[in-house]
Amino acid sequence: MRKRLIVSAASAITLFLTVPASAADFQPGAAGVGDTYYPTYGNGGYHVSHYDIRLKYQPATDELEGTTTILATATQDLSRFNLDFALNVQEVRVNGRVAKFATSGEQELEVTPARPLAKGSQATVVVRYKGVPSTVKKYGFTAWQRTPDGAVAAGEPESAWWWFPSNDHPSDKATYDISVQVPDGNEVISNGLLVGKRSEAGWTRFSWRENKPQATYLATLAVGKFDVTTDTTPSGLPVYNAYSKDLGENADSARASVERTGELVDWLSGYFGEYPFSSVGGYVPNVKAGFALETQTRVFYGPRQFARGANTSVVVHELAHQWYGDSVSLSRWSDIWLNEGFARYAQFLWSEHENEGTAQELADYVYASHPADDKFWTVKPGDPGAENQFDTAVYDRGAVAIQALRNAVGDDAFLRILKGWPAERRYGNATIPDFQAYAEKISGKPLGDLFTTWLFTPSKPATGPVAAVDA
Ligand code: ARG
Ligand code: ZN
Repeated sequence: MRKRLIVSAASAITLFLTVPASAADFQPGAAGVGDTYYPTYGNGGYHVSHYDIRLKYQPATDELEGTTTILATATQDLSRFNLDFALNVQEVRVNGRVAKFATSGEQELEVTPARPLAKGSQATVVVRYKGVPSTVKKYGFTAWQRTPDGAVAAGEPESAWWWFPSNDHPSDKATYDISVQVPDGNEVISNGLLVGKRSEAGWTRFSWRENKPQATYLATLAVGKFDVTTDTTPSGLPVYNAYSKDLGENADSARASVERTGELVDWLSGYFGEYPFSSVGGYVPNVKAGFALETQTRVFYGPRQFARGANTSVVVHELAHQWYGDSVSLSRWSDIWLNEGFARYAQFLWSEHENEGTAQELADYVYASHPADDKFWTVKPGDPGAENQFDTAVYDRGAVAIQALRNAVGDDAFLRILKGWPAERRYGNATIPDFQAYAEKISGKPLGDLFTTWLFTPSKPATGPVAAVDA
């Protein structure tokens, strides 16, 4: 009698432990990671470790179809979760089982797995989809740009939605396999190393692999007719560059700039330390967009960057981002200064190297050329607002802030900070307060006032970036 009672108590406990979850304990993941600038970007409840993106693209019609397989880990008990995506979805499977899905908001894809996901468990999510990405507008635009002979995916912060479903926020980095089938005669350009190229029945499949963590906005894809150059730097790094065959009068200036990628990476390594990735290069598609973007290992350059002759400065800027932005990434978009301030400062250093003005001279010029009532000074580089994320103040005042830091801590500590930070945070994420704490640790100086003055005050600092008396 007594014995039987004990047994039933034990089974009751077992039952309780193996079914912790009344369905009510499993909650939907949030529709955003909580970014103050972009509340719906990224998603809550899971992290992604790998994307396998397998596509087929027809340039003549802009038809894209494919399958993306996502390896994720649940960070809470999940009844459902969101992905960010813009194209039409045919099927979603989670751990092999067909999942329900629905769309909401602008770019939310809500996935309800057949079986809920326990916190800490791994999930394999397979999404089959197709669409004509250039015709799909979200918030009034598409980041998928058609060219006369193909297309390009590049944009910041938005670029992924038009070609792969993702947890679209730089706080969740993952490795990538990107494999795309295109009609014979086209090239496919993407991140990392080209690990496969195979033709069959009129179609060629290119397989690219980025084996280091990469933010979603740094994944890129281009299809079209390109001239490709390959090389290896003196330090052994593979270089892969590509130029649209249709660049017209910008073709030579583009090559005279981008072909110097290997040399410029080696030069930047002197300031920033060892290059963090296993491949490097850039591509210049025949797009109308004039911007450039630091897409990981394979920089996107709008051809207008080269409209007035060679532009090594933009190459330096985008390569500097490989350390500041790509290897060490933002945890939140409001910290964009960590990317753009340092990339612009690298251009100051390059100018100095080329005898075209020292970093101090350029910083003094920025300070002097904007009068106190200039709107320029109302943008706080350390928190510019989503609308001003890429305002010139983030770049120019942001670089002056770095010169002010240099003057405050002295050259020796400054150069140790510039090189030490990308090593300290390699392949990770960080915030401006993290950087300030690191700079204070290395320099042994309190820097709160300096950061407040240069990054967080919406008016012109009383004095320019002059050397401190004790520096
Ligand atoms: N991070 C880019 C740069 O190199 C800025 C891209 C701005 N995005 C855009 N769509 N205009 O400075
Ligand atoms: Zn930049």
